[in-house]
Amino acid sequence: MSTLTVRAASLPPPIPGLNRALRKPKKNIPQTKIERDHILAKVREYAQQVGLVPPIPLEELSQHTDKLMAIEGFDAIYRDYIGVLMANESWREHLATVPFEKRLLLMPKCLRVESKCPAPFDEFGLLCKQCGLCSIQDFQNEAEKLGYAVLVAEGSAIVMSLIQTGKIEAIVGISCLPVLERTFPYVEAAAIPAVAVPLLQDDCIDTVVDIDWVWDYIHLTSEDKTRRLNLNELHDEVKTWFTRESLDALMGPPRGHTEEISRDWLARAGKRWRPFLTVAAYQALRDDPEAPISDSIKRAAISVEIFHKASLVHDDIEDGDAERYGETTLHTEHGIPVALNIGDLLIGEGYRLLADGDLPAHIRSAALLVAAEGQRELCIGQGAELLWTRHPVALSSQQVLEIFRSKTAPAFEVALKVGAALAGRLDECADVLHTYSENLGIAYQIRDDIDDLGEDSAAANEWSMRPSIILSLLREKGKGTAKDTMEALWNGQPCEKPTNALIRDWSHESGAYEKATTLLEGYKEAAIRSLQEVEIPNLKGLLRRVIGKIFNELEIKGWCREFEQKNLDPTLRAEAAKAAEHLVAKPQKA
Ligand code: IPE
Ligand code: MG
Repeated sequence: MSTLTVRAASLPPPIPGLNRALRKPKKNIPQTKIERDHILAKVREYAQQVGLVPPIPLEELSQHTDKLMAIEGFDAIYRDYIGVLMANESWREHLATVPFEKRLLLMPKCLRVESKCPAPFDEFGLLCKQCGLCSIQDFQNEAEKLGYAVLVAEGSAIVMSLIQTGKIEAIVGISCLPVLERTFPYVEAAAIPAVAVPLLQDDCIDTVVDIDWVWDYIHLTSEDKTRRLNLNELHDEVKTWFTRESLDALMGPPRGHTEEISRDWLARAGKRWRPFLTVAAYQALRDDPEAPISDSIKRAAISVEIFHKASLVHDDIEDGDAERYGETTLHTEHGIPVALNIGDLLIGEGYRLLADGDLPAHIRSAALLVAAEGQRELCIGQGAELLWTRHPVALSSQQVLEIFRSKTAPAFEVALKVGAALAGRLDECADVLHTYSENLGIAYQIRDDIDDLGEDSAAANEWSMRPSIILSLLREKGKGTAKDTMEALWNGQPCEKPTNALIRDWSHESGAYEKATTLLEGYKEAAIRSLQEVEIPNLKGLLRRVIGKIFNELEIKGWCREFEQKNLDPTLRAEAAKAAEHLVAKPQKA
């Protein structure tokens, strides 16, 4: 009998300021990050449609804000907050065209941890000592590296005089809503491109900001030709390649019943993240990121999804899972031998699609190698999990994360690297794509484990023990019955399996849930930070936004349901429609 050894993954680097990010926002600020991201996305969509021309006077800004709020049914209490986001959108494109050396990053001193901050002040503001407690140093270092002037101070006087020197042509600011309201007229009058990320509190002490938003604005540049690329549209387009008709057109007509089943399975469901990543990387690295996508590229993207789907067919057999996508799994429907064979067929199909096209030979062979390496990695990672199942021992959360690194990350790495290979630029970015995918993959699998907690279906309660981050954290952090049950389960000893609802309660009580969430944020951030060294602006910008897209869509699920409920309510719907109509009827300034 071989003993299983599982290495421990390195934890993500600590993110300054993240530990405090849990401080509750003021009540006129959307309370969760999910909600704030959702609102920002809607503001962006609206601004793009309307085509806001800055500087926008306050009255006009209010009209747009009210209109959007009526359309989306946003709570009136968030009006000021949404107004700031709307003003930001009007300046975004302008900000992008201003060189970094002509920009000012303005931060408030209240972002610091008041009781512990060692920084002194001079006549211009706070002189950060880089102690790592808050996010000031992080923003400052990054902005200065790019060439920004950075100021940690309040007050418009110094800002105005900086503007008058002519050296500053745009401002990225962090500020509380009351200050933003007061300074808005000056900024409008000066017609200087300015975006502001609102602080989540306005009590001038230990305040918190949405770190990733600041990060986005700091890096915004017109050198990133993908910044206008609509990722939602791209994702939607990718999804259209997976209808039966489209698959048959791109892959050729199916031969026989086995192939029929495999095509139906491919078309059945799936979020299509992996082929989306392939196309996203390809678009970022080719000369014209908005040019149409050829059939050979579509086939390569389909192959990436096919490898993933093949692994799911085999995974469901290996785990004995009866359901996927809320329907029966392939082996439940057709029996294990048929399903095994279809998994094998799909792998062959994947390689065929990569090899057989009109792409240059060196590109095809680069993509094939990426796929083969990825498949090896994935099987090795999956193997670690399967061998563990045969001889269960308790795994630490770090060992579980290491399994994630080897079983989930490879599919993302294959997706991105195939995209880079298709653009003929894999050599330039293979290392960064590797690191980025590792962190993305681990974050994705943590997210999946957290999502499993929320499920209460019969199938979800029929779970079998597996290396899950929640279950490992529960063993490490749980107390009493929770701890004993987890010890027994992890070590393969007989014991009654708790329901999903009970595990959920234990996770919240023990802090396992919160720890998993922090780990998720940490790996997401680590993925973003892995892009720091990337010198291709398109790739840097696009991969940054991809993280937001993947995780916001995942997180929005639960939250959106409430909104859908609201939208279904006929009275509320009629009211919103009336309000919107009224606002649209108002004469608009050009
Ligand atoms: C399933 O992946 C396996 C995991 C890594 C969690 P997805 O949840 O992305 O599956 P599809 O792509 O929607 O089928
Ligand atoms: Mg599995």
